[in-house]
Amino acid sequence: MTTPIKTPKKLIEVALPLDDINVACAYEKMPGIGAHPRGIHLWWARRPLAAARAVLFAQMVNDPGYERNLGRGVNKERAKVERERLFKLIRGLVKWENTNNVVLLEEARVEIIKSWRETCELNKSHPQASELFNPEVLPGFHDPFSGGGALPLEAQRLGLTSFASDLNPVAVLINKSMIEVPPRFIDRSPVGPIPSNQKQTKIAQDWSGSKGLAEDIRRYGSWLRDEAFKAVSDLYPKVDLPKAYGVGKVNVIAWLWARTVKSPNPAYSHVDVPLISTYILANKEGKEAYLDPVISGGGYTFTVKNGKPPKSAADGTKASGRGANFVCLMSGTPIGGDYIKAEGVAGRIGSKLIAVVAEVKGGRVYLSPTDEVEKVAKSAQAQWVPGGDIPAKLSGGTCVPYGMTEWGHLFTQRQLVGLNAFAEQLSIARTRIRSDAIAAKWVDDGKSLSDGGTGATAYADALTIYLAFAIDRCADFSNTCTRWVPGNQKVMNLFAKQSIAMTWDYPEANIMIDTVGGYVPAANYVADCVEMLPIKATVGNVAQADAATSVRNEGKVISTDPPYYDNIYYADLSDFFYVWLRRSLRPVLPDLFSSMVVPKAEELVATAHRHGGKEQAEEFFLDGMTKAMHRLSEQAHPAFPTTIYYAFKQSQTTDLGTGNTGWETFLEAVIRAGFAISGTWPMRSEQEFRMVGQGVNALASSIVLVCRKREGNAPTLSRREFIRELKEELKEAVEAMIGGAEGVSPVAPVDLAQAVIGPGMAIFSKYSAVLEADGSPMTVHTALTIINGILTEGGDEFDANTQFCLVWFDEQSWTAGEFGKADVLARAKGTSVNGLKESGVVEAGSGNVRLLKPNEYPKDWAPESDNNTPVWEALHQMIRALRDAGESAAGSLLAGMPQRADPIRNLAYRLYTLCERKGWADEARSYNELITSWTGIEAASHEKGHLGSQVNLDI
Ligand SMILES: C[S@@+](CC[C@H](N)C(=O)[O-])C[C@H]1O[C@@H](n2cnc3c(N)ncnc32)[C@H](O)[C@@H]1O
Repeated sequence: MTTPIKTPKKLIEVALPLDDINVACAYEKMPGIGAHPRGIHLWWARRPLAAARAVLFAQMVNDPGYERNLGRGVNKERAKVERERLFKLIRGLVKWENTNNVVLLEEARVEIIKSWRETCELNKSHPQASELFNPEVLPGFHDPFSGGGALPLEAQRLGLTSFASDLNPVAVLINKSMIEVPPRFIDRSPVGPIPSNQKQTKIAQDWSGSKGLAEDIRRYGSWLRDEAFKAVSDLYPKVDLPKAYGVGKVNVIAWLWARTVKSPNPAYSHVDVPLISTYILANKEGKEAYLDPVISGGGYTFTVKNGKPPKSAADGTKASGRGANFVCLMSGTPIGGDYIKAEGVAGRIGSKLIAVVAEVKGGRVYLSPTDEVEKVAKSAQAQWVPGGDIPAKLSGGTCVPYGMTEWGHLFTQRQLVGLNAFAEQLSIARTRIRSDAIAAKWVDDGKSLSDGGTGATAYADALTIYLAFAIDRCADFSNTCTRWVPGNQKVMNLFAKQSIAMTWDYPEANIMIDTVGGYVPAANYVADCVEMLPIKATVGNVAQADAATSVRNEGKVISTDPPYYDNIYYADLSDFFYVWLRRSLRPVLPDLFSSMVVPKAEELVATAHRHGGKEQAEEFFLDGMTKAMHRLSEQAHPAFPTTIYYAFKQSQTTDLGTGNTGWETFLEAVIRAGFAISGTWPMRSEQEFRMVGQGVNALASSIVLVCRKREGNAPTLSRREFIRELKEELKEAVEAMIGGAEGVSPVAPVDLAQAVIGPGMAIFSKYSAVLEADGSPMTVHTALTIINGILTEGGDEFDANTQFCLVWFDEQSWTAGEFGKADVLARAKGTSVNGLKESGVVEAGSGNVRLLKPNEYPKDWAPESDNNTPVWEALHQMIRALRDAGESAAGSLLAGMPQRADPIRNLAYRLYTLCERKGWADEARSYNELITSWTGIEAASHEKGHLGSQVNLDI
């Protein structure tokens, strides 16, 4: 028999300061917070660092509560104080400004080690103690679906040796650039040539952490640009300024182009007519500019005009209505989407220069296009063109139907020449960096980065990676599926969204100058983001691995964020970057870039087109995810729970609260794989700060599952027993969620249905199976339906009149129903229609019964003088008061019936959930408002003084 392991409960299995974590997550998504590690290289669906840090910390530290079976922990009161201390630490840790706060991080590390030592002490007699419980060595961390690297990065920041893997080579490289490469060169001075335009006085002398590495990215970025420019300068000439703006030649910020097709009108079939979504180039008040088309001599030209554009400018050559519908500029003949597609497939979509954005002192000016400027651009001829297919299916759209099928089709020839110029100079830069490092007295052990080197050779390899990342950043801005934004007058990159949608007019940013889309700003940005990496770190370990077959989890603490069913096609999208990275970095990391494109077959995404249909895709996902999860449940360190993130598409919210194929299939995999769920935390990790700030009623966007390996000999349970256990345990769990526990604010009404999955699934998953009457195992779908049903069914705890109202509301909402039906229901609930009428909650007459709406309740009502108040009435009176006169009025009512506070709030939660499910948004909002204002209402009620309370007696 194996000796059981003593595993204290972790904080995450008991409590979390969710609100603070949610606010910090949202803050991190705000534009303008400055450099962030995510800026090192683009990746899709990143977790906020705040969530990753908080979850991992709470997964590593022991809950202070007493555990009789282990003889550890402190009593209830002390545990509460102790938990609050840990919460305070978490609240500090998640703040963006504390990302590299040495003192706080050290405090967190000490706490993690303290818990670890306690666990080791408990297990010191375990036969595998020396291997599993060495108090001097913390277990390593592993994320097998590491993507953009948030989780491994935060593990490293918290002092763990961090392991990361991903199937996708681009993700692997991002992780390497975050946790593997920088720690090897920490605290080192830069070696690169100081750019001639950089003032000595401005150069930082503090090279702690990754500052030296970052500075070299800037220096070589600048050097690389100069070299690349020398090679292709004739394609990037300055333009002459028209007299009105002064004289001389100025840099071009961007060339604006329109795609063209042959006019479908036979009279103009020789003319390439432009497809332009708007003629407006700049719409900032006082700085407006727009295109004015001039038709003459069987052709057309564009003139740029300044000043308020006419109304007609807004739509360019677009026809009214949505979609790819245009009109021929020459004849007004409609140009439909199918025609454009056919032209595209036939290779007849062309391009026409429509304006030039030039750099002048204090801003930018818009110039009319000239043949000469257009000719220079069209003289470019790329020597190398990226191959590989653009994904033909993407949720947000793809340009493939328009004949743009290969990555090379996304770029103009000049964009290709520019990007190539940088890629070509990169190998020269690598040689130069190595010799500069040797000249700066670095040891040169000749060992490359991939061989684990830390000397001059490896440093040259390392810098090459970041410089190649800057090329990727430029590629994201330098392709023809970008947009010109007239508001901020900048280029919007392709992957501002997760699609490769067709564009009609597009900007071509000047990669050679210091502007958005330029190489130097890109390299500087990468450098700034590198500086945000941990200041102190053990070298991480990153590998390319399939999570379904990986052996890298063994003995590690696991927190992971697998793909969300069919949400994002990582491999398809990332080919965009892979083809460029491969061009630049194959000599540096030959193994990682051995295949022509990103491997796709094992990617755990339910892609219908890849797997031959929806069902097959679901089967593939379930099978692969179960294998991957099984590896985690079997291999993870037994003293820690595993945490798993799952993000929802908002549109997937249904009757089941969060019910959808993806989520259910995912849960099915987790449970099949041998995990029991010991907690779930709804998180707003995807949400905009703005929305959280406004307390908007939006669903938590992701959920963190806390899982433990299920006991090998777990029994089975019948459906009836399952429902009985659910009813017993959920009631208490829901009350704790509604009431909030130990400094934790109550779960938002909108999150209740999601939050309740935790305790519900905890029951479901601790058994080897819940058996249906016919002996078949219950599906996750059925279990979720039952769990969610329990949230709104019953209501036995309320008075008889309220029980009636609950059912009547469910059936009728505010509309009238037949008296006979109401009478039967009232009797069943132990009341009568008359009794309901007397208590003031319904209107009954002419054979009908109807619930009163909140605004129909009498305004002069006082709970103190009403001895027949159903909770229903109390709640709707409070809603009326809150709406009419705010929190203080609702608080005054509450002051007159303090003993009803809990039932009122419970009823509001229940009604909120009911209305959400029914899609009654207005009603749901009223209940939500009452709950979210509850703290204020309570404060107002205390101010007023509770009826019969000390304050009242004093009076
Ligand atoms: C949701 S993302 C992870 C995002 C990450 N947590 C972050 O913050 O950036 C899921 C990742 O799983 C990876 N993936 C998909 N199938 C995989 C497999 N079979 N093995 C390993 N990784 C896989 C994808 O490449 C993607 O990077």
